[in-house]
Amino acid sequence: MKILFVNGSPRKNWNTDILMKKALEGAVSAGAEAEMVYLYDLKFRGCVSCMACKLKKEPRPNRCMLKDDLTSVLDKIHGADAVVLGSPIYFSEVTGEMRSFFERFLFQYLNYDDYSKPLSPAKKTAFIFTMNIPESLFDDFGYRQLFQRYENWMKLYFGHCETLLATDTMQVKDYSRYHLAGFDAEAKQLRHETVFPQDCQRAFELGRRLVRETDDKPTVYDFKVTTGEGTSLNLAEYRGKVVLIVNTATGCGFTSQYSELVQMYKDYHEKGLEIVDIPCNQFGAQAPGTDAEIHNFCTLHYNTPFPQMRKSDVNGENQLPLYAYLKSQKGFEGFGEHPFKELLEKKFAEQDPDWAKTPDIKWNFTKFVIDREGNVVARFEPTADMGEVEDCVKTLL
Ligand SMILES: Cc1cc2nc3c(=O)[nH]c(=O)nc-3n(C[C@H](O)[C@H](O)[C@H](O)COP(=O)(O)O)c2cc1C
Repeated sequence: MKILFVNGSPRKNWNTDILMKKALEGAVSAGAEAEMVYLYDLKFRGCVSCMACKLKKEPRPNRCMLKDDLTSVLDKIHGADAVVLGSPIYFSEVTGEMRSFFERFLFQYLNYDDYSKPLSPAKKTAFIFTMNIPESLFDDFGYRQLFQRYENWMKLYFGHCETLLATDTMQVKDYSRYHLAGFDAEAKQLRHETVFPQDCQRAFELGRRLVRETDDKPTVYDFKVTTGEGTSLNLAEYRGKVVLIVNTATGCGFTSQYSELVQMYKDYHEKGLEIVDIPCNQFGAQAPGTDAEIHNFCTLHYNTPFPQMRKSDVNGENQLPLYAYLKSQKGFEGFGEHPFKELLEKKFAEQDPDWAKTPDIKWNFTKFVIDREGNVVARFEPTADMGEVEDCVKTLL
């Protein structure tokens, strides 16, 4: 479980930073790997509207192409399970740096083809806002709408967001040294001593909760599949291994990929590779026959050494729950360069103009690769070069 904390306050060890650190402590106490990023330490710009993330390219970019200090931060957040954004309120908005970050963070995922379906990966998210004004003035300044707006963006893009507010904060340690006559210094001090520690506790619990709730999500190890002989294969047995899951067919143009899969298994099984072969007849009815017939074919032609599952659906109402999970983790990102690419694209477009937007399995021999920690790290379409698949497996072993 990885969680990023993006701090949009220029001041270290002040209100926002203290709360962010408390939330980070909470996340770490629940077992997360956590990192704080200080936006004011980075050199970056907001979105420059280059539109490179929206180019019609395969695979679809969906990622910010501007290269500066924010690039690696956006990459880390993309791969993280959760992200917490913190900002003081400046002139009834987040700080300039947080706003610039926010533009880059969200615009890359904005889907102009269908606004309601952003191209962002699901994750837990939270905002921590700190501000001078007390909650009693929220309505006068439209703050409720402000916080709701940010929370709504995050919910739309990532499926989850919660907001923690610290109000009436202490802006300086010694009010007597500054022209700050509009504030009651004693009341600020008292609030800092009594309410701010409660805010810190709430931040700690927020960090903890984000990790715990995320950890409650299913993992690949929660799924079982049934072998061709009718026994149950619990994927939890493969914990700590690298697993390649593939939907296969015996009469397909890609069936010869069995040769490479068998070779890969022979080369890497000892080092920890497992291959799960799931015959499926949903693509061109190219896996006809019974489980026994399919197994005989594979043994005769390829001498497949890995376990073969019962013929199953990987899309639609009767799909294996494992596949619903795998597809939720890695959607379709294009066929890449391949001689069959145009043929396949044309065929799918005739059936469904929106075919490329769904995470559904497109054809036989789509492969998912799971790392030793159970993360679904890659999805290879059947058109992907088998050398690429092997490279991916090798790096994980
Ligand atoms: C440039 C600037 C503008 C600010 N504008 C607001 C504001 O509009 N509303 C508000 O409640 N507080 C405002 N504040 C106060 C800060 O939001 C508040 O003190 C915050 O807790 C500071 O966070 P920090 O301690 O992490 O720096 C402003 C502070 C600065 C420096």
